[in-house]
Amino acid sequence: MSFDRSLKIAPSILASDFANFGAECAAVEAQGADWVHVDVMDGHFVPNITFGAATCAAIRPHIKGVMDVHLMISPVDAYIDGFADAGADIITAHVEAGPHIHRTLQAIRATGAKAGVALNPGTPAEAVAHLLDLTDLVCVMTVNPGFGGQKFIDMSAKIKTLRNMIGDRPVHIEIDGGVDPSTAPLVVAAGADVLVAGSAVFKGGSVENPEPYGKNIRAIREAAAGVYV
Ligand code: DX5
Ligand code: ZN
Repeated sequence: MSFDRSLKIAPSILASDFANFGAECAAVEAQGADWVHVDVMDGHFVPNITFGAATCAAIRPHIKGVMDVHLMISPVDAYIDGFADAGADIITAHVEAGPHIHRTLQAIRATGAKAGVALNPGTPAEAVAHLLDLTDLVCVMTVNPGFGGQKFIDMSAKIKTLRNMIGDRPVHIEIDGGVDPSTAPLVVAAGADVLVAGSAVFKGGSVENPEPYGKNIRAIREAAAGVYV
């Protein structure tokens, strides 16, 4: 996948029907999703468990575009090859997940996948200062990770700092948590280019009635488009 800083909406299947992931992925893509965001939680790094690499591999054939895998797990390194083999285009690990995030990003890139690094709300932008040449995406969490549907935490100052630190490097700034048409303009004006949204995309729709997904995606895109920098 080549680098492209156009505004992207990445629905999180955490808010979709867990018994129907394949059809849900196809439905959101057909309704205008740019990437599909896949939240992996281990019940240790975060207080919730979702699924692992086997589920990602099962989902993969149902996604035509980018599968964006967000690992909320600790430790990370032993599982990287499994997620790469499952067909992840982007594998994102948390800077807080262990003492060796630099090694983790090297290991992700060695698989051929793009490497992302995520920052919890309490972690400063400077935590990635020495990682930017090893990274394809910085994910700024705007909730404490673990659950969908939480209240947005304003991280605009951190996003602006990251945008300046990144300069003209080919590094995405992704925002994850509480993104909806009211919060999207804040983060996009600060410098974000990838918006993860779970509940705000999947609300009101289903595989049988997918049009609300399209309406919800357009509402976020249109709210953000006017302030995109
Ligand atoms: C939170 C996850 C998010 C979450 C976003 O731990 O990483 O991707 O699904 O969900 P909403 O958009 O509902 O906040
Ligand atoms: Zn996520």
